[in-house]
Amino acid sequence: MTTKLWLPCSVLLLAVACGGGESGSETDSDTGSETGTDTAALEDAPLGGNHDLVDYPEGYQDTALYTTVDKVDNMQVRRMFANDVALNSPAGTLDFGSVVVMEIWSAMLDGSGQPVLDDQGRFIADELNVVALMEKQEGFGNYTPETKNAEWEYAFFTPGGEDMSSDLDCYGCHGENAGPSKDYIFTFDELEAWQTNPAPMGGTTDLLNFPDDYLSYSLATTVDREDNKQVRDVYANDIAVASADGNEFDRGSIIVMEIYSAQLDMNDEPILDMDNRYIKDQLSIIAVMEKQQGFGNYTPETRNGEWEHAFFTPEGEPMASEADCYGCHRDNTEANADFVFSKNEIAALP
Ligand code: HEC
Ligand code: HEC
Repeated sequence: MTTKLWLPCSVLLLAVACGGGESGSETDSDTGSETGTDTAALEDAPLGGNHDLVDYPEGYQDTALYTTVDKVDNMQVRRMFANDVALNSPAGTLDFGSVVVMEIWSAMLDGSGQPVLDDQGRFIADELNVVALMEKQEGFGNYTPETKNAEWEYAFFTPGGEDMSSDLDCYGCHGENAGPSKDYIFTFDELEAWQTNPAPMGGTTDLLNFPDDYLSYSLATTVDREDNKQVRDVYANDIAVASADGNEFDRGSIIVMEIYSAQLDMNDEPILDMDNRYIKDQLSIIAVMEKQQGFGNYTPETRNGEWEHAFFTPEGEPMASEADCYGCHRDNTEANADFVFSKNEIAALP
């Protein structure tokens, strides 16, 4: 059993009316309790969630980071995670076994108490204060119809995984303001994007930035493509090289493929060098794959784990394409390929 830790509302800095503790569970049924008659009287959902039913979600950090919210009103960063059951649930409702976690961080502040912004104008997470949990299981939510949120239970934990008491009305606020149409989840639309949006043709630069420094990566292989008379150089960054001999590449892996046209002779056939290899002509495309937590926010059938794909021009500008990057890389049937065709060549690097 973990020890209970009490934190007053003010410490949690939730921009909510924290009071109202007296309306809680102790005022339950005075409807003929002792006679033990027919129906077991249901209690109201407890304030602060129910630690008797849910445990700290061990390992949640490895589940999908599906969205991040900057809270301007109370200078917090809130990072939302969802497990595979939640991500792979049909659109509209989450299956039993779904676990949704919200980390509540204080935002980093400057000397005048204003949030420091990163390159993208987002708050920077400073200190983790609360791990908030929603979990849906068959048999959960056994409360009065007015106070239950279907089969969801809630709880706060400390960053260290201990139960954290709270007198916040989790069920009430999620029930009234997110409601059944969103399965009681405020960030339902963001989560639903993972269930309903197919991966885009041609990749996307929504999340993936051009890796300016890719020429400093390791050159893993050069492929002569007979079918389209191209030469392709595949580069991998240090994280990719270090993790290529495992089942999966680590987060932070970036793989870049330069696509050159081959020099052709008068008959439009590739000219060969002394090693019988094609000779590069023009660099036409820089193809990139990057794996990061929070990438791959598409339907289960079309996402390639946490990989994103994109084409860039030789100048590093996003380049439109109709190629089905996700589909073709997923169809690669090599064992443990992790959607990468050149995995063995990358793993062979010193
Ligand atoms: C006064 C309203 C309110 C109360 C009370 C409240 N929440 Fe929330 N909660 C929110 C809002 C709003 C969000 C969406 C993120 C944001 O904007 O901060 C959220 C998000 C969440 C999420 C992420 C999933 C989602 O719904 O987007 C979890 C998990 C969560 N809350 C758990 C809890 C727990 C546990 C409690 C009780 C201890 C609680 N909440 C109490 C308003 C509330
Ligand atoms: C029809 C199949 C196909 C499509 C579509 C495709 N690729 Fe590939 N890709 C390959 C193959 C095969 C390789 C291995 C090198 C080679 O043989 O050309 C590769 C290699 C790569 C590599 C080097 C890492 C690796 O897997 O070996 C990157 C990066 C890459 N592709 C990005 C993309 C991007 C971005 C798109 C979409 C804009 C895309 N690819 C579309 C087949 C495809």
